[in-house]
Amino acid sequence: MMLFAILSIIACFCFLKAWKHLNYWKLRNVPFEPSSSLIFGNLQELEKTKALYTILKDIYDKYKRIHKFVGFFSFMTPSMMILDLDLAKEILTKDFDYFPNKLKFYNKNEDPLSANIMNLRGEEWAMKKRMMAQELTPHKLKIYCSRTSQECLKLIDYIKLKGEQKNSVNIKDAVLRFMTNLVTAIALEIDADAFNDDLFKEKASFCQNSSTLTGIPMAIVESFPRLSAKLGTKMRPQQIYFYVSILEKILKTMNFKHSSSVRNCLKMKLPFKEAATQVFTFYENGFSTVSHFIIFSLYELAINPRIQEKLRTHIKDALVKHKEIDYECIMDIPYLNQFCYEILRMYSNASQISRICEKDYENKKYNLKIDKGVLVIIPIDGIHFDPDIYPDPYTFNPDRFSQEEIKKRHPVSFLTFGVGKRSCPGDSLSKIKQKTALVHLLRSFRFYVAEETSVPIKLVPAMSRRTDGDVFLGVEVLHDEMEF
Ligand code: HEM
Repeated sequence: MMLFAILSIIACFCFLKAWKHLNYWKLRNVPFEPSSSLIFGNLQELEKTKALYTILKDIYDKYKRIHKFVGFFSFMTPSMMILDLDLAKEILTKDFDYFPNKLKFYNKNEDPLSANIMNLRGEEWAMKKRMMAQELTPHKLKIYCSRTSQECLKLIDYIKLKGEQKNSVNIKDAVLRFMTNLVTAIALEIDADAFNDDLFKEKASFCQNSSTLTGIPMAIVESFPRLSAKLGTKMRPQQIYFYVSILEKILKTMNFKHSSSVRNCLKMKLPFKEAATQVFTFYENGFSTVSHFIIFSLYELAINPRIQEKLRTHIKDALVKHKEIDYECIMDIPYLNQFCYEILRMYSNASQISRICEKDYENKKYNLKIDKGVLVIIPIDGIHFDPDIYPDPYTFNPDRFSQEEIKKRHPVSFLTFGVGKRSCPGDSLSKIKQKTALVHLLRSFRFYVAEETSVPIKLVPAMSRRTDGDVFLGVEVLHDEMEF
């Protein structure tokens, strides 16, 4: 009898908790997207049929003309989607003190590399971000540019070789090998030799999918990040620690040369695990984002031959003027810059800009209250494909990013690198890598849609935008055409 009474009380308590949770937005009189699942919230279709960016865009499209914000559930976390660009700007910049962190899981002890800048909080985050800025000075960017150029020459030889063997080339494979070489060279100062040896490339595959969790474990980790960390949950695949062992060897032999982030970490007297995490921030963040940028760029060039020719003409003019592919040359091609922005608009790697509300927030202008603990998100695809912001949004058109067109738009209408103090510190480095690679590739090849090319390009329904399977393109070698 006693047991029955206790069980009944527990059942009532759980029911009440679940009811309060499901009615979270209703009780606060906030417009909301109904959710059908206690555990997955509005993300039930994630990784089964829909990508996160599609789910969020659908919610944005449904409410953007009616409200300035809308409640929903990101797994079990009450989340608020901001639909108004002025409000988004306030939250990301002026009201940063209320929204200084992202709701990210990390487990410093068992999975030390997860404690990276992206996930850290407070003073620890600020210190590591300042350190990172020292690795991204204009002087260092020039060094990274020439490093990228060296690796591009190997990429070109590899594509030529593959093109001789088959009608079309698996561009994704070539780009992943190139990026493996490049990020290993930049982060660890060693030659991964990924065009001849698969070892590093296979290990680097972790960068494409930094979480091994899916389904309910992912929902639990996303909803209760701090508890998950205390329970020792590991999100990362173990391959990542292959690189740590290499770093350990490098540090033991002190066998590193110039401008090294490894050296910088040592100067700062960081413990080994922290130094490794800092170095791998370069590795991990630079790998999949830039790889996918190059793959999507080559695909768009293949399906838009007119734009490809126009870009090649601009590159040719710059090469005639500068005589070599260096930092000054790649920064002096405005149409290349526009092209890159348009790729980044249509193929943003991240699905959302997210911030966790760290103290109760009130914004009287918008009649808005946000409780501590709520996840605030700005949906990138919703805004990047909003026809009121980017007319005819599914047409690839680099002219949208001419200086005159940019001035006409809201400052928060381009979100690929985020906004405010928590925005991406690697944007300049990634642009250098992207532009240098495109100049080399377009100088050497013409890309076209081949029989094996899948149009539209296949994507996986994941948390971020990723290609599904191989990406084949026809490649014509350009002989002498761009001699200068
Ligand atoms: C095309 C390339 C890249 C894209 C699209 C990209 C995108 C992003 C986005 C959307 C964020 C979150 C911004 C926010 O919440 O406001 C971010 C953060 C970050 N990115 Fe990048 N990124 C790229 C390349 C890189 C590279 C090359 C590095 C490293 C060198 C890097 C390092 C970081 C770090 C450390 C953060 C966390 C910043 C913080 O929390 O304060 N990213 N990136």
